[in-house]
Amino acid sequence: MEILKKRIIEDGRVVGKDILKVDSFLNHQIDVRLYNEMGKEFLELFKDEKITKILTVEASGIGIACIAAQYFDVPVVFAKKTESSNLDSDTYESQVYSFTRAKTYKIRVSKRYINKGDRLLIIDDFLANGKAVLGLMDIISQAGATLAGVGIVIEKGFQEGGKILREMGVNLKSLAVVRSFEDGRAILD
Ligand code: G4P
Repeated sequence: MEILKKRIIEDGRVVGKDILKVDSFLNHQIDVRLYNEMGKEFLELFKDEKITKILTVEASGIGIACIAAQYFDVPVVFAKKTESSNLDSDTYESQVYSFTRAKTYKIRVSKRYINKGDRLLIIDDFLANGKAVLGLMDIISQAGATLAGVGIVIEKGFQEGGKILREMGVNLKSLAVVRSFEDGRAILD
């Protein structure tokens, strides 16, 4: 997606060996006009998949999932990372290991909000090692629902998540793929 790629090149900053900071437009300050264009693009990519719900994980997947959901005209469900008294006790759960944070956390979704007949589109802002997406896929499979696709804003192509998911036959589409970092700049496919 050209306007996203242009924005990553202009405003993205590389931190250390493998982190791309895009918090001026994607996951801290949010450019809503750009989000709308990304939402339309996700609809274009998945419009034939009969999506009934969008699934994401808190926190930074929620914004883009909600904007995309307006174009699909379906609800968004987000997996929660924290235990809370207002979450139903009957939940689907999965464990996610975060390489970035070097820790494992639990994600939960109330059993009320994913049903057998659902065709889910997973949306997230970043795909690195794929653990968050695999955790969400585990929850979809526990619910007996169908994974119809995975839409990612920025895939880091030099980490293994994209390869793992494509080899599993997942219908994965990324709006931008970062091939490498060179001299502190992101090189895009
Ligand atoms: P994985 O799910 O693909 O295995 O990713 P990983 O554990 O490595 O990533 C952990 C968190 O860091 C995720 O956010 C992910 O979106 C984010 N992340 C991964 N690579 C980058 C990067 O290059 N730049 C930025 N800005 N973020 C990256 P999270 O734990 O879900 O946190 P939240 O911010 O959504 O709450």
